[in-house]
Amino acid sequence: MIQKKNRNTWSIIPGQELTAMDKEILYWQNRGKKVPTRDLIKTPEQIEGIRQAGAINTAVLDAVAAAIRPGMSTQEIDDICMAVCKEKNATPACLNYEGFPKSVCVSINECVCHGIPKPTQFLEEGDIVNVDFTTIYNGYYADASRMFIIGGKTTPEKEQLVRVAKECLEIGMEAAKPYCFVGDIGNAIQKHAHKYNYGVVKDLCGHGVGIKFHEEPEIAHYGKKGSGMLLVPGMTFTIEPMINMGTWRVFVDADDPYGWEVITEDEMPSAQWEHTLLMTDHGVEVLTY
Ligand code: MF3
Ligand code: CO
Ligand code: CO
Repeated sequence: MIQKKNRNTWSIIPGQELTAMDKEILYWQNRGKKVPTRDLIKTPEQIEGIRQAGAINTAVLDAVAAAIRPGMSTQEIDDICMAVCKEKNATPACLNYEGFPKSVCVSINECVCHGIPKPTQFLEEGDIVNVDFTTIYNGYYADASRMFIIGGKTTPEKEQLVRVAKECLEIGMEAAKPYCFVGDIGNAIQKHAHKYNYGVVKDLCGHGVGIKFHEEPEIAHYGKKGSGMLLVPGMTFTIEPMINMGTWRVFVDADDPYGWEVITEDEMPSAQWEHTLLMTDHGVEVLTY
């Protein structure tokens, strides 16, 4: 089957005068830039729904933050997420998503992302761990992840990696101005990571989010300024840079029977932070604080 391609042309509402947003989008479209389709601009009701999903997602990650400790199994983290979700009448988006068997991703050290919780896997002092959770509430999605340093202390090298990965997310958020391009975000992130000789993962990206788990556009964490889709107010998307201490190259772990767990090629550590963001007239608003 030939796949459907979205032409990414901005549709005008017939009989209505062009808004300032229409004009701005058409300006860039006429210069050959990729622009969003109208369905990517969320309505106020949709934004409110995504905001509520975001608040629950934050409560889930806060509950994990309060409980995470050395000796805990990664399955226990899954249990905590499930319990908070249940209490709030929400659902974990990861559970059974394309065969993913658990409700949260827990990725330790050289595991870049999509780590599967297991009753036999225990957190050790000095591990750096990413916990990535996505909430569905009333049909709306919010997606965020944080790093945890188990026992509160690790090597200076891993501490720096965790800090710089967080700075990469923050720098990406600052670069995300209304009517900027996706490539402006990736370019800013890549520049910061490269100051430390860190690798920026290319195989996995941020994404539109809100009505579905993964929507357009893809948000690469590297690239050229001015490339990729135009970002306009009302769009909701994630930024989630995966920053490696060594090479940017990653593989799916052949030992994972589910084919999900991603590890660094050189088995050096990796760190990631993620937020769901709303583009506004001034910049991005974080919906997962
Ligand atoms: N939460 C991840 C993201 O940031 C996606 C995880 S998909 C799963 O996009 F199936 F592994 F859970
Ligand atoms: Co996520
Ligand atoms: Co995401």
